[in-house]
Parts: sequence; C-alpha cells; structure tokens
Amino acid sequence: MPVYYYSSASGMVRQFCERLCEGTPRQAFDLSVREVRKSVPEGRWVLVTPSYKTGNPGNDTIPEAVRRFLRDPVTRRRMVGVMGSGNRNFGAHYQAASRQISAISGRPLLFEFELQGTAWDIADARAILERLDAEVAAHA
Ligand SMILES: Cc1cc2nc3c(=O)[nH]c(=O)nc-3n(C[C@H](O)[C@H](O)[C@H](O)COP(=O)(O)O)c2cc1C
Repeated sequence: MPVYYYSSASGMVRQFCERLCEGTPRQAFDLSVREVRKSVPEGRWVLVTPSYKTGNPGNDTIPEAVRRFLRDPVTRRRMVGVMGSGNRNFGAHYQAASRQISAISGRPLLFEFELQGTAWDIADARAILERLDAEVAAHA
C-alpha cells in the first residue's frame, strides 16, 4: 500500500519516505502537491506526518495539508494507520500530530521515529508495511 506524507522545507519526512520506497514498488505521495491533496486514495494507505507545535494550544500541531487531505470521509476510511516523525526535545508534545490523528481516527499509530529516521527505522517501517500488505492481500 502507498504512503502519503507531508514534509516541510527541512524535508526530513520526505527523505524518510523516499528511502522507505527506494528499490520497492511502493509509492510515496507528497501532500504538499495540490493534486495529491485533492485526490482520494484508491485503496488502503498509510499516513506519514511530522508534528509542528507552534506555541498555539489550538489546532495547529497537525500540518494543514494533512488536515485538508483527511477531510474526505472515504480517504479517512481507507487510512490504515499513521507513522509519525518528531523530535523528543518537544517533550510532552513529542509526536503530538500523529498521536492525535491516531486517537481521532481510531487507527493505530504504526511507528514513531525522530527526524529523518535511522537505517533501522527504515527497516522496521518497511517490515510493518509489508505485514499490512500481506494482511490486505489475504483478505482480498
Ligand atoms: C517549529 C517546529 C515545531 C516542532 N514541533 C514539534 C512537536 O510539537 N512535536 C514533535 O515531536 N516534533 C516537533 N518538531 C520536530 C519535527 O516534527 C521533526 O523535525 C520532523 O522530522 C520534521 O519533518 P519535516 O522536515 O519533513 O517537516 C518541530 C519542529 C519545528 C521546526
């Protein structure tokens, strides 16, 4: 199943997703591209998002592009789970976006990593996605 991600100018999540899919048939779609944000995934998919705490206790931890993409109920229904990139320096806000999305959607927080992730993180995330692919194939 594909991953859909948002990544800011620092590009850490982009780097993670590109390495995740490298040399595999898996596709990574960039939610900062308008057409991607407006599309509805054809099947099951996984979200990869950073967290951005801007000092406002309100709604702005989840990136706007992710928020918009998740407005569509079909898109939400097809989301299998969430992977989050964060930075432990943010303490109690660590992974706030991915954890919030998981709590609201009822979908599992599949994997958490810091910044662009390590080679081990990539391997772990690949294994998780492969397991999900196998589960979906078994129920098809
Ligand atoms: C202004 C700012 C706010 C951030 N807020 C959080 C936060 O609340 N929780 C967290 O876990 N990480 C936080 N981070 C860390 C980013 O989520 C992390 O570096 C992520 O890898 C960035 O991905 P990107 O480069 O693809 O945008 C913040 C980073 C910045 C620059």
